[in-house]
Amino acid sequence: MTLSAEQRRERLVALYKEVSTCTRCPLHETRNKAVFGAGNADAELMFVGEAPGAEEDRQGLPFVGRAGQLLNLLLGEIGLSREEVFIANVLKSRPPGNRDPLPLEIEACEPYLFEQVRLIEPKVVCTLGNFATKLLTGSPTGITKVRGTPQVHELGGRTVFLLPLLHPAAALRTPAMKETLRGDLAAIPELLARPLPAPAPSAEELAEAEAAGGSTPPQPADQLDMFG
Ligand code: URA
Repeated sequence: MTLSAEQRRERLVALYKEVSTCTRCPLHETRNKAVFGAGNADAELMFVGEAPGAEEDRQGLPFVGRAGQLLNLLLGEIGLSREEVFIANVLKSRPPGNRDPLPLEIEACEPYLFEQVRLIEPKVVCTLGNFATKLLTGSPTGITKVRGTPQVHELGGRTVFLLPLLHPAAALRTPAMKETLRGDLAAIPELLARPLPAPAPSAEELAEAEAAGGSTPPQPADQLDMFG
């Protein structure tokens, strides 16, 4: 079902309210504020981080600490501002002491993220760090192997470009990683300008094409070769 921009915005507000009072996992007992995500509800570009830190938990906003300041700086360097993008996290509640998200927490929270992608309808989704990358690529391959190379995925019922990036917190710790993140982010403007590839053919479409003796429609992985 196609939703108007107004309907998508209304549903996003309803989802925000749901997340604000969510008790799906034990993190609601220790959080100060749930962090839904923030930015442009019609953004073409979405960032997905890991989980709120101390400052995010205090303010109820994503990436407002040091990692967020670095992200703002690097975004500015490619001519983008926070107001133009939407930023969310895999987890909406802070894990105590900033420990890694647990599988049951990710499982409880991931429907919110997929619904956010469905409602915002971004063209490019940048995953920041291992947790977001593994969740949204559906692959256990770590961020250092896949960073900087765009992929094509079906997310929230739509085809998007997915660009795995190092987490800005890691980039704050190591100057070389900061330069890598800066270099990888430079691919974004060109990616935003590209037409999205056609959605992957369904199993039915593939079977029909084969039965008709025709050539198999290109898969997203093949199409990726065109700009890999
Ligand atoms: N790190 C994250 O992954 N997300 C935030 O919102 C802040 C820091």
